Amino acid sequence: MHRHQPLKTMCTLKQQLSTFLLILCLAVVSTSGFGPQNWNRKIRSSPIRDEIQIRGNTLLHALPSKKKKLKTFQRYLEIECWKQSNIRDLEPVLQAVAESCKQINRIIQRAQTDDLFGAATDKDGAQLEENVQGEVQQTLDVLCNKFMLRAFCGSGNCIQMVVSEEEDEAKSCADVMADSAFAVGDYIAAFDPIDGSKNIDSSLPLGSIFAIYKKQPGSKVDTSTFYQDGTGMVAAGYCLFSASTVLVLTMGAGVDGFTLDPDSGRFLHTLNDIRIPRKGSIYSFNEANYRDFEEPVQRYLDSVKQGSSTARYIGALVADVHNILINGGLYGYPGTRKNPDGKLRLLYECAPMAMIMEQAGGAGSTGTGRVLALKATEIHQRTPVFLGSVENVFELDQFYSYYGDENKDE
Ligand code: F6P
Repeated sequence: MHRHQPLKTMCTLKQQLSTFLLILCLAVVSTSGFGPQNWNRKIRSSPIRDEIQIRGNTLLHALPSKKKKLKTFQRYLEIECWKQSNIRDLEPVLQAVAESCKQINRIIQRAQTDDLFGAATDKDGAQLEENVQGEVQQTLDVLCNKFMLRAFCGSGNCIQMVVSEEEDEAKSCADVMADSAFAVGDYIAAFDPIDGSKNIDSSLPLGSIFAIYKKQPGSKVDTSTFYQDGTGMVAAGYCLFSASTVLVLTMGAGVDGFTLDPDSGRFLHTLNDIRIPRKGSIYSFNEANYRDFEEPVQRYLDSVKQGSSTARYIGALVADVHNILINGGLYGYPGTRKNPDGKLRLLYECAPMAMIMEQAGGAGSTGTGRVLALKATEIHQRTPVFLGSVENVFELDQFYSYYGDENKDE
């Protein structure tokens, strides 16, 4: 025992020394920028931060929340409808429309997992007939139409009649709700529940568009109530289902945008008083139709390519127009030789988009006149349309004035 004493003391000394060295190392490491805390800080500011965050690295769960303090859509509506007494009774219906956008958003997101793709069928599994536009209705079209019909007709008793892209005829809200109590209200509404449905199967952006028109005082409410120009519109909007879900709305006093917050499930006021740039470099046309476009449009497209422009075309009106609204430029769906009136519908596509553009400081033209001055004569009427920055729309109009049919020699 006694003989081993020095050895034991040496061992203890060795242990103490190594403990001391370990503590020293830790101290050096923690102050030298290699310690866990600093490593964390380095990751935060390094370009690989997002990659690590996506992989769920626990270090990054501690990141401070960056949520901004934003007004909810509901609060915005309360304030705006209070300010504009002439549209005060629209508050519940606009609130319901925002809710239906959320429902449509969920349906779109679940389409792949819940087998909601493809052509709609009846309860016996037979494919539905083509709609009045000659298009095969998709399952999503039918579902989203139901949400929108209910939103417009079932809230606030202010909409008396509706036109939908998915319905052949105008419908009274009393029929939609199967209750005559809904046959009241000072407004009529037109909407496209799912715009750009060709994008459904490939998970590309989609949208919903709507317009609310004031009915003429004392007039009988039937299909002809929709035969008015766009100046009778009191509100217009769209919902974009894309990288984020954005609701854009005008009630005749500017344009505002709201992003759906995935955490709270509420639309938050992210785009305050949207103003489109006076001029932009984006042009958004389906140029595959170039050969069939009218001469003014061909000449216009030839000319923009001489400058510093860039082309963007998603193939969903809402997505393309939103891009132009935010960045400036020109969206166009012109007439073609085969379809001189183009493809897009006046009441629930072109007119609401034109109102939004005008309210944001831009313009909407048919090439030969203001979109909002065009009076509907059919509910599913089509019109050529050009929407965007004032200078771009003006330039396009100049090509129509110069190369348009009316200026051609007989
Ligand atoms: O509603 C018609 C629509 O789907 C629009 O959303 C879109 O802008 C357009 O058709 C695309 O048409 P095309 O495929 O002919 O370019």
